Formats: sequence, structure tokens, C-alpha cells
Amino acid sequence: MASAVKKFGILTSGGDAPGLNAAIRGVVRTAMDTFGMQAIGIEQGYRGLINGSARELHERDFSGILTRGGTILGTSREKPFKNPVPDPETGMTPVEKIKANYKKWGLDALVVLGGNGTNTTASMLADEGLNVIGLPKTIDNDLVETDITFGFHTAVSVATEAIDRIHTTAHSHNRIMVIEVMGHKAGWLGLYAGVAGGGDVVLLPEIPYDIHAIAEHVEKRRDMGKPFSIVVVAEGALSREEALLDKKTFKKQRAEMPYSIAYRVAHELEEITQLESRVTVLGYLQRGGIPVPYDRALATRFGTAAAHLLAEGNFGNMVAMQNNTVVPVPLKKICGKVKYVPRDDQMIIAAREVGTCLGE
Ligand code: F6P
Repeated sequence: MASAVKKFGILTSGGDAPGLNAAIRGVVRTAMDTFGMQAIGIEQGYRGLINGSARELHERDFSGILTRGGTILGTSREKPFKNPVPDPETGMTPVEKIKANYKKWGLDALVVLGGNGTNTTASMLADEGLNVIGLPKTIDNDLVETDITFGFHTAVSVATEAIDRIHTTAHSHNRIMVIEVMGHKAGWLGLYAGVAGGGDVVLLPEIPYDIHAIAEHVEKRRDMGKPFSIVVVAEGALSREEALLDKKTFKKQRAEMPYSIAYRVAHELEEITQLESRVTVLGYLQRGGIPVPYDRALATRFGTAAAHLLAEGNFGNMVAMQNNTVVPVPLKKICGKVKYVPRDDQMIIAAREVGTCLGE
């Protein structure tokens, strides 16, 4: 079939997530098989685009990667626009190097798979004249303009399975078990895993918590004959006192805190309730491993849709899911934004209705 693009580059950038390889497979297989395009795999995200490390991709690169975690291209958190200092050797800034490589490789377009930062950089590269298409990847599900990002459901599954396991030991020891999940800015992962895992308390960055309200909830459970509680804490959760601080002071205080938030919540709850407490930080377990079927299928839908945008020459967009339909949204609408959990979100309402304490 005819295509506006003959040759494109593809890269994965930002935190890795299960489903990246399924998305790469969706883009490149469709582009090659349906539209006869040639694909260049750019290594380690924007770092490879700056430094010129890339390789031609062939059919053999895609067999067996649908179910593989991570990314066959590697990734980094390189931000090309952050430090526009010319390289002393070449006299070129990172963005100038990107443009030179884009031209040297004879690219007609660039496909980037990433979260907020990646798609914001993509939007800025589009402003510099590159033909760019973005795909929405992050376990945080905190990208605006899309109902869902790939990687999120796998992380929810991993976190929920962990919470299920923690329930049994909490019950056996009559303890408060505090489980820390990822999500610095937005609490979607903590909310969904907390509800799915039956968390008694779920603390999100969007709802600053009152430690005494949490303790009261835990003590009520104990008085009802349930002297154990599951407390799910997003790594970006903060207290009401911290919410009153200016951003700079809060960031400094957090940087100086010698342990992550879950340990502080556990310690404070043990002090107030005299119930033993223990902590589990799930960390990178939520970013690793095999994507769940939902994410494999979602990433494939996003990938194939991106290949069609390439063929149509419909650049400057990110493929997004809106009302169960994949649509292109302008990268400009993604730029610099974060999708926070609204206080009236239906999942927040559902959590409250089943008696979950949200720290208030
Ligand atoms: O953006 C995804 C994410 O996993 C966040 O949930 C987490 O806070 C962050 O990446 C960790 O970043 P890094 O992988 O650079 O340590």
C-alpha cells in the first residue's frame, strides 16, 4: 500500500514498562509488511538519537518479543532540550545532533514510545521540524488525552498479587502491613491496585493524608475484631502538613528523608496504635516481567495505529485510547501535562463506598 513514509526511526524512552516490545512489534511489523517501510531501531532512547547509535530492524528482530518484558532497543531518561550546551568536539547541541542523525539516516519520520517526558520531547522535536508520532507508555497511567497507557495493567496485576500475599501474613501476625507502590506524581497505580487488592487504606499523592484519621480507621478495625490492616501507599503520597509546604521545601525535605514514605507511615501508625507494623516496597517489580494479555493487545493496537499514521503522513500526534477507540491526539496537548486522579473519579467513589480509608 502507498505510504508517505519510506523509512522511519523508532525509540523507547523513559522508565521501561511491560508491553514496550509488543508495541514495537505492532508498529514495525505493520509498517514493513503492509506499507513496505524500512525501520531503524534507535538504542537507549533519545541518547541513541543524539549519539547516533542505531541499527536496521528486520523481521527476525520481532519473533518472540510479544511476551517479553523490557525493550529490545533499551531506554534512558535523556532529555535533549534540557542542556543545550554545544559539544566542545563538534560544536553541536544535542538537538542539532538529533537533526543531523535524522538526516544522515535518511529518516522520513520518528516514532517514540514513552510517557510524559518522552512525548513532551517529541512535541518539541516536532516544533523543530521533525515528523514525529508518539505512543503512550507508562505504568503510572498519568498521560493526559488517553484513557489508558500500556504497562499500567501489568503493574496493577503485579502490585495486586503482592497485596494478596501480604494479606495472609498481616492476618497471621495481627499487623499493619504498609505496601509502597510506584507513582510519584499521580496515584492511578496505587488506587487501582489498592481497590483490587482490598487495601483497607489507600494513600495517593492527590489526597494529602491525616495520619490520625488513618490510625482511627485502623483502630476501628481492631475494635471490630480485625487487628490487622493493609495500607497501600503511593511513593508520592504526602501528609497534610507536607501539602502546606512550598514545592522547593517539600522536595528538599523528601530528598533528606532517609527512608521512603511507607516507612514513615508505618512508624507513625505503630506509635499511635501500638499495633506492630511492617513495610514492603514493591519498587521495580512493577516495571518488570511479562506483560499481561491486556497490555499485549493494547500495545499491539497502539502500534498498528501508529504505523497507519506514518503511512498517512499524519505527524505531530500521539496515538491515544478514547472511549475504547484509538485516535490521534496532537502532541502539543500532551506537552508538560500530567493526568492526576480527580477527587470525584469513579474509582475513588467506589473505594470510599467499600469502606476504604483514603487518609482523610
Ligand atoms: O515513570 C514510571 C516510574 O516507574 C515511576 O512510577 C517511578 O517513580 C519512576 O519511573 C522511577 O524512575 P527510574 O526508573 O528512573 O528510577
